[in-house]
Amino acid sequence: MTGTPPDEHVRDQVMIATAVMKAYGSGDGAVTALRGVSAAFTRGQFTAIMGPSGSGKSTFLHCLAGLDTVTSGAVVIGAVDITGLSRTRLTELRRDRMGFVFQSFNLLPMLTAEENIRLTGRLAGRRADRQWFDTIVDVLGLRERLDHRPAEMSGGQQQRVAVARALLTRPEVLFADEPTGNLDSRSGAEVLGFLRAAVDSYQQTVIMVTHDPVAAAYADRVLFLADGTIVDELAAPTIDAVHARMRKMEG
Ligand SMILES: Nc1ncnc2c1ncn2[C@@H]1O[C@H](COP(=O)(O)OP(=O)(O)OP(=O)(O)O)[C@@H](O)[C@H]1O
Ligand SMILES: [Mg+2]
Repeated sequence: MTGTPPDEHVRDQVMIATAVMKAYGSGDGAVTALRGVSAAFTRGQFTAIMGPSGSGKSTFLHCLAGLDTVTSGAVVIGAVDITGLSRTRLTELRRDRMGFVFQSFNLLPMLTAEENIRLTGRLAGRRADRQWFDTIVDVLGLRERLDHRPAEMSGGQQQRVAVARALLTRPEVLFADEPTGNLDSRSGAEVLGFLRAAVDSYQQTVIMVTHDPVAAAYADRVLFLADGTIVDELAAPTIDAVHARMRKMEG
């Protein structure tokens, strides 16, 4: 083992949050959702974020993705500090460098699966290469569904379309907020398996919020949030280890 030179290590960090604070409102009604959260996300790393309801998981994800502004602290993707960017630049940056999968699949009902998958790339004015489109469609088992509209697909199929859409632009970071929240366990396992495969095969970086220890066990590490701070971290999580940490947190 020669070890990784320090600059190599830094370059491998696709996303870094430093002392992120987020307060909603002001005065008596103010809520501090994040109280100084720092975390680095390495290329090809699958991170799960867990914690009780209201602990700040979605807020943290939204701050990382530039969907919400931070009150103080920094969020850097690549070499860009996104906390100072205009709305327009942020929208471009999200479109060009980030992918999103949400609990409610967020497909456009009037568009077919193929049109939904191609939508983000279209908006960016890019044509994804045919080969990459074919690879994603086949790996996700969507070939027979390409002409179907969302209403004609199961929840699992719709979420696979959403994953395909998110992966098509080869995002530097794929964000997922409860991606299996509306799926049965079999469909959920399929979607998680694809996220895992994207990490292993294409060095995809994934940051996923979940309540589910089974989902978290697909990740390389779990960050545990409580009351707006990271209180624990677990590497190479197993379902049992995640359960044990959650029990400990619940006191
Ligand atoms: N837009 C908002 N305005 C005011 N307070 C907010 C807003 N969004 C979130 N909060 C508050 O910030 C805290 C963290 O909320 P957040 O949605 O990040 O929690 P969470 O960990 O994602 O919870 P859940 O597991 O229920 O989704 C909560 O106290 C919440 O009420
Ligand atoms: Mg949430």
